[in-house]
Amino acid sequence: MKFANDFLFGAATASYQVEGAWDQDGKGPTNWDEFSKIPGKTFQGTNGDVAVDHYNRYKEDVKLMAEMGLESYRFSISWARILPNGRGEINQKGIDFYNNLIDECLKYGIVPFVTLYHWDLPLALEKEGAWLNKNTVDAYVEYAKICFNAFGDRVKNFITFNETVVFASLGYLSGAHPPGIQNNPKKYFQVTHNVFYAHAKTIIEYKKLNQYGEIGLSHVFAPAFAVDDSEENNFAAMHANQFNMNWFYDPILKGKYPEYVVQQLEKTGLLPDWTADELLLIEQAAPLNDFMGLNYYQPMRVEKMEGAVEHVITLDNSTGRPGNPSFDQVYKTVKMDDKKYTKWDWEISPEGFVAGLEMLKDNYGQIKLYITENGLGDEDPIIEGEVCDIARINFINDHLKAVKEAISRGVHIKGYYAWSAIDLLSWLNGYKKQYGFIYVDHQKGLERKKKASFHWFKNIIATRGENLEG
Ligand code: GAL
Repeated sequence: MKFANDFLFGAATASYQVEGAWDQDGKGPTNWDEFSKIPGKTFQGTNGDVAVDHYNRYKEDVKLMAEMGLESYRFSISWARILPNGRGEINQKGIDFYNNLIDECLKYGIVPFVTLYHWDLPLALEKEGAWLNKNTVDAYVEYAKICFNAFGDRVKNFITFNETVVFASLGYLSGAHPPGIQNNPKKYFQVTHNVFYAHAKTIIEYKKLNQYGEIGLSHVFAPAFAVDDSEENNFAAMHANQFNMNWFYDPILKGKYPEYVVQQLEKTGLLPDWTADELLLIEQAAPLNDFMGLNYYQPMRVEKMEGAVEHVITLDNSTGRPGNPSFDQVYKTVKMDDKKYTKWDWEISPEGFVAGLEMLKDNYGQIKLYITENGLGDEDPIIEGEVCDIARINFINDHLKAVKEAISRGVHIKGYYAWSAIDLLSWLNGYKKQYGFIYVDHQKGLERKKKASFHWFKNIIATRGENLEG
């Protein structure tokens, strides 16, 4: 079976992780520009000041993407390039940069798929309380409208937010991302609600403009499975899915928060501060959502917790390594002997992907989906000067096969974006953890080099996935 002709093969990046040029051409500082410079927050003090300098080298990068045959490039806009203070005066040079990037993509027939928020918040808004402050919602809607007006004639796919669960939980539960607050579930739930409200307001505004494009958002997709068939572990998996899946997907797709979670939050005093008007708007916006973007790296294997367990926060386990308890100490994620893992202990499970997609279909019907991120973080071997990322080829091969399988079972998937187009800065792990098809040599002035996976993916796209192995 081949992938349909209108299925998009793409790859993704995010502004903070690739652009660099952190204060070039009038860009304002962001939460990450500040946070990454606090000693001890990132691996070897790495930050996005230069990153891989995509801001100055986008022409070379897009040319390489075109050579690979990419049909679409998912990138994010840095809010502080457009509005250095988060609101108010527009920085024309920021608009120019994204216009140039979009036009460069279109020159090669590459579809730009634009994320409006991939975690880099203008510092001025961070100082006002970031997503805890409802004024940030209004500032975001204004920023989004500026982007629609500036780019919407050529950009027909917008993603409002990337992975709310990550910036909310790492920001307010583990403290590994800005603002670095630990163990504050009250704030965590408030942030999630404020973001869903901002999403709802934004898509309503987008539809008013009649730009005939599509708008949705990207969530982490990490379906939870019980480690065994026992009743208590099945309960743990149900609970995990309610809190990590339903709490995030229901307000977007059904326009309502899940009853199970709402009841628990009411009991524990953690219910966000929300108004009837906000809830109504979320309900009204749900049918306007055009698609859901899924970022799939791994499923969760969960077990009911016996007693209290300490949350271990280290730089490299804050994002996905199993072993941590849920905030409410109901379950914990575990590493299983019979599963395969990456060097960062993320499970490799194309089977979990298919099973999760079926779960999603059962819960939400045949909504339109894009896989907006999927990929392997690795330290790629260099053999005789060539980057031989065979493990990445195998990973993407097996996950594309999973996508095919899910499509054949009736899941409506319209595209696949590998994370990432090019090696880039990992939020906390520096440049050690690589994901790209294109290698960046930090010893040789950021020189670009094609990896084995570059040639492999080119062939997969050219043959529309007919030659996937196994
Ligand atoms: C995601 C995130 C990306 C990238 C990726 C791989 O959570 O959206 O920005 O960091 O993980 O670690």
